[in-house]
Amino acid sequence: MENLLSVRQVSSSYVSRSLGSFGRRIEKPVLHGINLEIAPGEIFGLVGESGCGKTTLGRCILGLIDYRGEITIDGLRQGPRANRREMAKRVQAVFQDPAASLNPAWRSGWILEEPLRINKMGGGAERRRRVDEVLELVGLDPSYKKRRVHELSVGQKQRICIGCALMLRPRLIIADEAVSALDVSMGAQILNLFRELHQNLSLGMLFISHNLNLVHYLCGRIAVMKDGRIVEQGDAEEIYENPRDPYTKALLEAVPEPPGLR
Ligand SMILES: Nc1ncnc2c1ncn2[C@@H]1O[C@H](COP(=O)(O)OP(=O)(O)OP(=O)(O)O)[C@@H](O)[C@H]1O
Ligand SMILES: [Mg+2]
Repeated sequence: MENLLSVRQVSSSYVSRSLGSFGRRIEKPVLHGINLEIAPGEIFGLVGESGCGKTTLGRCILGLIDYRGEITIDGLRQGPRANRREMAKRVQAVFQDPAASLNPAWRSGWILEEPLRINKMGGGAERRRRVDEVLELVGLDPSYKKRRVHELSVGQKQRICIGCALMLRPRLIIADEAVSALDVSMGAQILNLFRELHQNLSLGMLFISHNLNLVHYLCGRIAVMKDGRIVEQGDAEEIYENPRDPYTKALLEAVPEPPGLR
């Protein structure tokens, strides 16, 4: 079976200039030869401490920054020449801070319709129907489309962000610390929502977190990243129970067991 996501030998750097009018070009390498694959409908976890490069890899996969190597999503190569609209139908993202992703004055329904408007998809009635469908998928009743963002709780805002990501029926979602800003019970609800969506829509997911417990709870396979390299990759249960890399062991010792998740 063809992979949904294939990341091969991906390296990436941030480039800046030193101060002054003749500023030198400074290259800061962040990712070093990353390889990973996600099968259609698989939830794959990426874990590693702050600053190791998880978000940078997510940005490469979303086509937001340059990289060396090769990334293909559902048969299409990601990069500067990729067809943006086709890519938008393949991969979407959910980030950590739902409030930062949403305009507080807008109504949820208008926000949810936005991906369809941008991509000029569907007429008015069809868009509204899709909004209702998606609200149901994320566990909100249709009345929520009239609510303005500032009238929603953090968890409800995150549900709207997840809804936006689902509007175009992507095959892959990148969830980057998508529950890290939520308290434990809200976080658990959103994790369960991801699990339901994965099961009901056979959605593929790259679930990024610094918390090995969360990743173990949700994902079948995981990769552990350290300083821009994958140090261990495989079955989540096996790695959790029997970590081979000393860094994975240290990560496991560093995270407290979250109550109410198991
Ligand atoms: N726009 C940028 N310009 C320059 N350096 C950056 C930029 N964004 C991130 N970095 C650096 O790249 C490295 C990797 O950052 P990244 O955000 O990918 O880490 P992360 O694993 O997602 O961390 P966290 O768990 O805190 O979200 C860090 O050293 C960071 O300081
Ligand atoms: Mg990050």
